[in-house]
Amino acid sequence: MMARRSLMVGFGGYLPDRIVTNDELAARLDTSDEWIRARTGIGQRHIAGPEDNAVSMATAAAAQALDYAGMPAADVGAIVVATSTPDQAFPATAVRVQAALGMRGGFGFDIAAACSGFVYALTVADSLIRTGQADSALVIGSEVYSRILDWSDRGTCVLFGDGAGAVLLKAGDAAQPAGVLSTHLHSDGTMGDLLYVDGAVGLREQSGFLRMQGRDVFRHAVAKLSSSVDEVLAANGMTHADVSWLVPHQANLRIIEAVARKLELPPERVVMTVDRHANTSAASIPLAMNEAVRDGRIRKGDLVLMEALGGGLTWGSALARL
Ligand code: UT7
Repeated sequence: MMARRSLMVGFGGYLPDRIVTNDELAARLDTSDEWIRARTGIGQRHIAGPEDNAVSMATAAAAQALDYAGMPAADVGAIVVATSTPDQAFPATAVRVQAALGMRGGFGFDIAAACSGFVYALTVADSLIRTGQADSALVIGSEVYSRILDWSDRGTCVLFGDGAGAVLLKAGDAAQPAGVLSTHLHSDGTMGDLLYVDGAVGLREQSGFLRMQGRDVFRHAVAKLSSSVDEVLAANGMTHADVSWLVPHQANLRIIEAVARKLELPPERVVMTVDRHANTSAASIPLAMNEAVRDGRIRKGDLVLMEALGGGLTWGSALARL
């Protein structure tokens, strides 16, 4: 078998129709549009309606990614879904998506790594492809954080939104310059109580709320993401000057700006969705990729740096050439 690399060949996204503005939240919470914008860069978020769930949103994003690549669902080898808000404890979101797409072959499973979920799922899917266990893989982030938010806690509920994003990977020849170049994962479970859910997740009833020590998570995010981007560039013998686009996890504009400054990347080289999507956890990177590929910003040959940090704490980075 030739040495393989995972090419990113399809992109898709789904956002619920319902948009909730900061002013709408300020009407029922002690907060304001000014505070939310100044501290986070968030202006609005999409919130799941009764018809939306982790499976339906993941399926919609996946279908778009397949359509982009012109690949029939039957040809997909693996589905890896990153989610912290599955509709059911099992079966996995991924196998529900497999059924919804009409696939009878291949395999699927979920990954839980909170907001770092997409980087983790990309790592696993890339490994499956490079080792020959799958010739293609859908990597999906799908999150319904609105169902685990304490809507009376202004410190957390203003920060998150719902949505799904998908990237389709396909095996390519490693002799070609394109594809996922490397991924790097980290976690430190001693910081598990900085950001966690105090119960299990279920479709029917609210059984746990997201809790966060925001200031501590912020501090760790800036430090760990800064070293994470250094790590992925060094591993590939590259410098910040080689990076075409930073496609970061979208938690907070100030965190993204700090990492961009570190990379000496001007704002026009950073894909930003946090203003309109808020923090969609594992969905934020593939949603941002989808947007920037479809509007023509990210083009073939561009070098894309992805990074994320989330509950766990988990964090990581990935470098890919389109
Ligand atoms: O994606 C997973 C990773 N998550 C993150 O990366 C999130 C990281 N953390 C953050 O983004 C920021 O820490 C927050 C946006 C959560 C908070 O920003 P901050 O600048 O760290 O504010 P703070 O928590 O230090 O709070 C400052 C003040 C407090 O009031 P006092 O104690 O100074 O009187 C808060 O009670 O702002 C208050 N506050 C609010 N005020 C109005 C907290 N939430 C709100 C709110 N509206 N929604």
